Amino acid sequence: MGNIKVAPSILSGNFASLGESVANVEKWGADYIHVDVMDGTFVPNLTFGMPIVKAVKSYSKLPFDVHLMIMNPEKYVGEFVDCGADIVTFHPDSTNCVTEALDIIKSKGAKCGLALNPDKSLDLIIPYLDKLDMVVLMSVYAGFGGQKYIPDIDNKIIQLKKIISERGLDILIEVDGGVTTENAAHIGLCGADVLVAGTAVFSAGDPYEAVRVIKG
Ligand code: DX5
Ligand code: ZN
Repeated sequence: MGNIKVAPSILSGNFASLGESVANVEKWGADYIHVDVMDGTFVPNLTFGMPIVKAVKSYSKLPFDVHLMIMNPEKYVGEFVDCGADIVTFHPDSTNCVTEALDIIKSKGAKCGLALNPDKSLDLIIPYLDKLDMVVLMSVYAGFGGQKYIPDIDNKIIQLKKIISERGLDILIEVDGGVTTENAAHIGLCGADVLVAGTAVFSAGDPYEAVRVIKG
């Protein structure tokens, strides 16, 4: 088994029985449950919030990796942790209170991270690196599953990996969007530690095999 961890996004699961989708992710051999929270304002799509995380939490022992695509995440991060989020990530361009939001997550005992859309520079997260457990590099524009991987992100992954190792930091690089069984190994070689995969896992004929292949 490779070193890559897989975080299937339940955005591609069955919303009519989301608990079962969460349980399946663990059964298929994945490492995290990726939960995409969208507010219809920061991104042009709406998904779900804290009560859903709370409702499905008991369906798996895997860590819940909650990706917030919402405005003013500092208002909600604490409650997401209370509802079962183990890792909470948000976009620095969604708030003027980045430090405050990161500190709330940490003070509640969860891991924290920042996420960057494809057009956002690494400069946006550099000031916070010392606080972060994870950086999410979006390889599609946040908002929808099933989009195509943007190849330019390769360089961003390589660049971030270099910064993390030069500074001796312990930060996971998660790549989110358009990951497939075909491109996963390449993205891993660029330096990704965790790959989010919604469509590639949930729409696979054999999801066990898809997870195995993505792990490399
Ligand atoms: C996009 C989400 C992603 C996405 C992944 O806004 O953050 O997690 O759902 O889905 P796929 O793997 O289908 O691109
Ligand atoms: Zn996501």
